[in-house]
Amino acid sequence: MTAFGRFMFPNVLFEPPTSFKVGKPEDFPPGVVDERFKEANGVWIIHNEGLLTALIAICTHLGCPPAWLEAQNKFKCPCHGSGYYKSGINFEGPTPRPLERAKISIDPVDGQILVDKSQKYLWEQGQWEDPSSFIAMS
Ligand code: FES
Repeated sequence: MTAFGRFMFPNVLFEPPTSFKVGKPEDFPPGVVDERFKEANGVWIIHNEGLLTALIAICTHLGCPPAWLEAQNKFKCPCHGSGYYKSGINFEGPTPRPLERAKISIDPVDGQILVDKSQKYLWEQGQWEDPSSFIAMS
């Protein structure tokens, strides 16, 4: 595409939005890895150990999309075999670090969960302590 064409049709128009709503907290039962938003938005919504998180569905080794294996209770990357617990913490294979979280919050207007992938939280930098990286469920 020419420079002029890019000007007329900025790339951002063709990319999925980085910020989107996924439903209400009660739509996500404890222990469940919700895969409904993986294909279109590239995240899993996970209610695990009292926290609701949006894990980005990109392997932190070399960027393949891992699969959630319900029977084995883990994420597994098909490319080189990295494995992650439901929390996103890595425990096998070549990846050096956990999956990344996206920003997650509750929209004060309609009570829906808002995920913002433009903001990421890395476990190894202590960013999972940031309250913008989870919703506490009671
Ligand atoms: Fe996932 Fe290499 S890209 S294990």
